[in-house]
Amino acid sequence: MLIIETENYKELSKRAAEILIYEINKKPSSVIGFATGGTPLGLYKNLVRSYKNKSVDFSKIISFNLDEYYPIKKESRDSYFYYMYKNLFDLININKKNINFLNGETKEYKKECKSFEKKINKNPIDIQIIGVGVNGHVAFNEPGTSINSKTRLINLTPETIEINSRFFKKRKENVPKKALTMGIRTIMKSKKIILLASGKNKAKAIKRLIDGPIGKDYPISYFKKHKNLIVIIDKEAGRLLK
Ligand code: PGA
Repeated sequence: MLIIETENYKELSKRAAEILIYEINKKPSSVIGFATGGTPLGLYKNLVRSYKNKSVDFSKIISFNLDEYYPIKKESRDSYFYYMYKNLFDLININKKNINFLNGETKEYKKECKSFEKKINKNPIDIQIIGVGVNGHVAFNEPGTSINSKTRLINLTPETIEINSRFFKKRKENVPKKALTMGIRTIMKSKKIILLASGKNKAKAIKRLIDGPIGKDYPISYFKKHKNLIVIIDKEAGRLLK
């Protein structure tokens, strides 16, 4: 595990972008796993800026996203599909055919999860971006998730619904109670993982990952076992570390 402690969120976002751009320049057809939420927004801003400066070309990358609410319409402003297009995909030259997303509109969610998992197996993820929830979740793998979990439908915890309601136009009553998510095993198969964590409410989860035991009560702790994990944190997220 490589830990990069930065001064602040701005620097964290810049460092993450530098690593990703370096990898894409080295392998233009990289398979990238993207994440949503508040934390990667600064990274995406940096990627868009670098694209505009012509220092990176996204035309050959293949993308996967970690998760999506269920059920949700793609065009809903609250979907992760919408988030990715608005904050990144519409602003760079990614080939839209190379974008892979869990479909929150499908009625056949089991089939959807199976085929998504299959697609990842065919196109192994080179670099996966992840964040971490205050409760230690990764993607929507909530506390209690097995290390062997695959892509599937899950129930969100009341805590996650509460925290994520800040992004919803009509607040809490509109947050879906379920989601489709890559499993822990799916994410762990990525060749390289970059974890981003910013702010003091992430300090406990980061402490557990770095100094604590592995256990299902904090799914982030499973990632201690990953061979190529880069943890990029700001000072506040690292405040409980020795
Ligand atoms: P955040 O979410 O980036 O909005 O803090 C992270 C997560 O819940 O995984």
